[in-house]
Amino acid sequence: MSIESEQDLIALKRIGRIVANCLQTMGKALEPGMTTRELDDIGRKYLEFHGARSAPKLTYNFPGTTCISVNEEAAHGIPGDRVLAASDLVNIDVSAELAGYFADTGGSFIIPPESRVKRNLCIATKRALELAINEARAGQRLNGIGRAIETHALRNHLTVIENIGSHGVGKALHEEPGFIPGYYDPKDRRVLKENQVITIEPFLSTGAREVFDTGDGWTLATNKRYLTAQYEHTMVITKGRPIIMTLPA
Ligand code: CO
Ligand code: CO
Repeated sequence: MSIESEQDLIALKRIGRIVANCLQTMGKALEPGMTTRELDDIGRKYLEFHGARSAPKLTYNFPGTTCISVNEEAAHGIPGDRVLAASDLVNIDVSAELAGYFADTGGSFIIPPESRVKRNLCIATKRALELAINEARAGQRLNGIGRAIETHALRNHLTVIENIGSHGVGKALHEEPGFIPGYYDPKDRRVLKENQVITIEPFLSTGAREVFDTGDGWTLATNKRYLTAQYEHTMVITKGRPIIMTLPA
């Protein structure tokens, strides 16, 4: 969507804060021995309490409230009976709708103790998000986002997952300008526009370049040898720094 009024901005910020706080609440609740369904229930109750509706459930009839992806799973993991263990890398993605506005956020967490590999992957992915945000400016090419992510991944001896990425958001979970790759595509001539609402969500991996469907129709995973991390914000593009909608408060 494109922000056209102060009301648009207020409404998007409202749902942005809800998903951001939901993500933090779930992250703090992580404990070995709990199932991903128990973790999802915490998110479900949080969203229900704030009157928000799960965006993947609303949009795609996803069988859960939030997407929870563990270790080799990269995205769209279905909450269920999987029991979380010490040292697991857990990605939680929370997107929701309130009053017709959609916000989308996500983050990877490590259940202690942290291995160096997992910690470095998370630090590099979080930094890739910051560097990509710095490139997202009205009038600039959209492919600056992928270039920043890919450059930072390579510098850290990591790979970029190429078949999932960032996207437009706001009045729907996925909308114009469509798929925004996490790698540099010199042929992509799209330009960022003022007031445009997008997510930026780098998926960095210890070696994988693509994810595949695991057979349940939702969960996207890499080869088991690899790990993947993701951090995501929803933001409004301006002539200066984007305004982040998904900050916890
Ligand atoms: Co998301
Ligand atoms: Co997203």
